Amino acid sequence: MKLNWTMNAEKNCLMIMLEGRIDSTNVAAVEEEVMEIQKQNEGVEIVFHAKKLEYISSAGLRLLLKVRKMQKELLITEVSGEIYEIFKVTGFSEIMNIQKAFREISIENAEVIGQGGHGKVLRLNGDTIVKLYVPGTTIEEVQREQEYAKKAFVMGVPTAIPFDVVKCGESFGLVFELINSVTFSEFLNQNPECFEEYAVKYAKLLKKLHETKVSKDMLSGTKELYRERINQLKPLGYFTEKEIEDLHRVNDAFADDTSIIHGDFHPRNVMVMDGELVLIDMADLTYGNPLYDLGSMILTHVTLSPEGKLDITGLPGEKVDELWKIFLSVYLEPKDMELTLKKSGIFSVLKAATTFAFSQRANNEVVVKYVTAMVREKLLSNVDGCIQLLKM
Ligand SMILES: Nc1ncnc2c1ncn2[C@@H]1O[C@H](COP(=O)(O)OP(=O)(O)O)[C@@H](O)[C@H]1O
Ligand SMILES: [Mg+2]
Repeated sequence: MKLNWTMNAEKNCLMIMLEGRIDSTNVAAVEEEVMEIQKQNEGVEIVFHAKKLEYISSAGLRLLLKVRKMQKELLITEVSGEIYEIFKVTGFSEIMNIQKAFREISIENAEVIGQGGHGKVLRLNGDTIVKLYVPGTTIEEVQREQEYAKKAFVMGVPTAIPFDVVKCGESFGLVFELINSVTFSEFLNQNPECFEEYAVKYAKLLKKLHETKVSKDMLSGTKELYRERINQLKPLGYFTEKEIEDLHRVNDAFADDTSIIHGDFHPRNVMVMDGELVLIDMADLTYGNPLYDLGSMILTHVTLSPEGKLDITGLPGEKVDELWKIFLSVYLEPKDMELTLKKSGIFSVLKAATTFAFSQRANNEVVVKYVTAMVREKLLSNVDGCIQLLKM
């Protein structure tokens, strides 16, 4: 057997391809070759690429163990479903880093049924869709959304079942159950007579989500997420070091809580199925203070609306205003209205500030100028005042 291998300079590793069968009849020859390749590249760690590996016997596994002992860690990538099972039952997946190969799908002839900030959504068949992420999205981000969507589902949130992570060309995709219906904005546009009734349901959906408290090991905290996002702003250079520190101080001043926070609640992340509302897009699911979701809504329902600015909601300006009014009247008690809106308004500015850190769309000159000016005017010019308000 002649093993193919490449040197990955970027990751400083030797990528050795395992192919066909590795069993007692050829394992000695394979071992000799692996050791020879290793000798030529001393000090560089081995990674096995197992896409074309069809079978591995216990003799083959012993060879992997030997290599495992030669280095700090052993990564085996692109492992097929069957081989993955062997690694699992033998316990190898606990002592080595085994990465399963992603199913590859073709989207030829697949109909585009949705568009969002992360990419596009296509119908795969009568039961499933794929959310295809823009190139550059890392596997960790996709797996995080899969994990959060699973957790939301298990916690009883009405949402689409997430299935597996797939590959489509250079992009990653996440397969979900198809919600065979329309988004909340499409529904309101098509059924104006139901507007008020469904606006009430919309408010109740979020209220119910916030009434669900979670244990802190279930999800990460919104505050921690924003700490990370504020830090991601540093290298962009839009804010000074002192301003970044101030953003952290404001973020830290929000009262801790353990409600489920959706993170991006707006009419395109809600769908209507058989008269019931279903929540989708769990990429930013966290636990925290309900003020975070209200703040995010201020941004999408008030600051960026009415029309003319970025259209997130998919509704005409006056309809967004109407939806927001009904939402507030159902979600908040009149006596809490003013203070709650002020506090969540502070979060809306913090969210706007950090949006550059993770959205390519927001990272253009006009948006940067508009948002940095707003952040300075509404937040940075009065940091102590904001913190005091948040403590009330
Ligand atoms: N499970 C689903 N069934 C049917 N349509 C969906 C489903 N998930 C998403 N969509 C459609 O795709 C759009 C974008 O999906 P979303 O998850 O919100 O992506 P993004 O994170 O890019 O905003 C939604 O507004 C909706 O129209
Ligand atoms: Mg979305």
